[in-house]
Amino acid sequence: MCGIVGYVGRQPAAPVLVEGLTRLEYRGYDSAGLSVAGPNGQTVVRRVGRVRELEAALPRRLPGTVGIGHTRWATHGPATEANAHPHTSEDGRVAVVHNGIIDNAAALRERLEREGVTFTSDTDTEVLAHLIARSPAGDLEERVLEALDHVVGTYAVAVLDTAAPDRLVVARNGSPLILGVGDKEMFVASDVAALVRHTSSVIHLEDGELAEVTARGYRTFTRETHDTGRVPTTIEVADEDVDLGDHGHYMAKEIAEQPETVARMLRGRLDARFGTARLDGLNLTPRELRAFRRVKILGCGSAYYVGELGALLIEELARIPAHAEAASEFRYRNPIIEPDTLYVAVSQSGETADTAFAVREIKRKGGQVVGLVNVVGSTIARECDGGIYLHAGPEIAVASTKALTHMGVGFALLALLLGRVRDLSVADGQRIIAGLERLPADIAAVLEQEDAVAEVARELAGAESLFFIGRVRGFPVAREGAQKFKEVSYRHAEAYQTSELKHGPLALIEAARPTVAVIPDDELTDRNLAAAEQVMARGGPVVAVTHPGVRLGAVDARRIDVPRNETELDPIVLMVPMQLLALHAARHLGLDIDKPRNLAKSVTVE
Ligand code: AGP
Repeated sequence: MCGIVGYVGRQPAAPVLVEGLTRLEYRGYDSAGLSVAGPNGQTVVRRVGRVRELEAALPRRLPGTVGIGHTRWATHGPATEANAHPHTSEDGRVAVVHNGIIDNAAALRERLEREGVTFTSDTDTEVLAHLIARSPAGDLEERVLEALDHVVGTYAVAVLDTAAPDRLVVARNGSPLILGVGDKEMFVASDVAALVRHTSSVIHLEDGELAEVTARGYRTFTRETHDTGRVPTTIEVADEDVDLGDHGHYMAKEIAEQPETVARMLRGRLDARFGTARLDGLNLTPRELRAFRRVKILGCGSAYYVGELGALLIEELARIPAHAEAASEFRYRNPIIEPDTLYVAVSQSGETADTAFAVREIKRKGGQVVGLVNVVGSTIARECDGGIYLHAGPEIAVASTKALTHMGVGFALLALLLGRVRDLSVADGQRIIAGLERLPADIAAVLEQEDAVAEVARELAGAESLFFIGRVRGFPVAREGAQKFKEVSYRHAEAYQTSELKHGPLALIEAARPTVAVIPDDELTDRNLAAAEQVMARGGPVVAVTHPGVRLGAVDARRIDVPRNETELDPIVLMVPMQLLALHAARHLGLDIDKPRNLAKSVTVE
């Protein structure tokens, strides 16, 4: 989705902005632009397409040490140069970049047009540039405040005015915005990925907060102009965490680093002696944990599918009724919020609008909500009452892989803790801990088979349509397998509960439609094998994602074996070959693996 960068300092602004925008490319966008304030006013350059096309279009000399930049993911109006940001006022003095949606843009536009303003784009953002330029208030800060008084909606904005060419004014309401503090220079970004090369000292602005940023520093304040006196915190993201290294794609890099990142996530969180998990960030006492009678998990897309796995883990280990729901649906059905339910919001980015709205709805109704979030300091992480950071490191590829594995681990830790304050025995707790400790090695063992999985993926890539099937613990794995496959290979991939095949989808089985069947070595193996046989009997090719102990017998399938862990934790390992299948199918088809068409990394609008 859209990305913002800003710079005020001593260096030429343009290269800093271009570098920042490049770092934001992974979020998905269709046009890019920047504006730099120079000695003769500001230069605005915008292009449809990639940041490198914007860079190529820049004038050879572009002096100026203050500027703003943007990558746009079209919402209001198509992806054209005219709709790309920055948007400027009629006199060219004020330039604005904006993430979010101004809900009353149509009414504001109508009013401004009646007053004689000529618009040059279809965007909601342009109204802001005109409102700021036409504001009767005094300096830039006051004019931005006054303009925002007219606006209803969500925004992160950065404003440049050639009448005050030494500063930017920025504001946040519902879309992330971060200040980066350097040495006699300041940075602005909607995502820390754009800052890590320059500084680790950051301030996450709160909703309703603004900042005035100059090379000398910053001042943060509220809409009511009260100083908020925010002090920077240090982020731990290293430059190499967001570099591709030797990997061809971020998705490949992120899959490969899982053994290491999972080991890191577990560090300090396992208490082998008492067979439990240490999750101080939840801010819940054992007594409070015991009092919950239900768990409700909310997330979107793949996070929701792993949430389903989380619900099963919690039911199995803690014996509390647990259920996962798509946050995008939950927020619209006037949900019943119960005092004895623990709500869990799960999100890689921590910025997914639907999940953030669900969190707010729960809190509005007095519910207790904790987060399983990857991005430290993100909106959802800050708005929850407590949580478990996933510590997967930055995830750049649009298709989520390692963060989902970490979500699975996070749910296992939560289930273990909830179980141990109830009836899960020390011995069973210790068994789960031993399984968690084996996860890095088990994932590494799957990755060692990458070449063999890639061969299967190439075969699957030839099919226009595929099924992914699994049941109980295997079903979230199948759902996520289908999701990953369709996201990056653009093949139609559909997940079904294995048990439901005979109730309809079996009619679609044929030689051209392969089925990837999740067949763990558990109490349902025989039933899963019987279903796979039914598929084969109808001429459908089968790929079995299974455990070494499983004898396929009459099922003449391609097989991908993953090491057995503890039954409850097996799905976490079973998800890894699904990631490899999707990656290699997309690679075989020559597709843009890290930036699949039409998708964005964090969906910050509805
Ligand atoms: C995953 O591959 C998808 N791109 C998508 O479904 C994602 O999981 C979903 O949008 C939720 O994102 P979040 O984890 O950042 O909240």
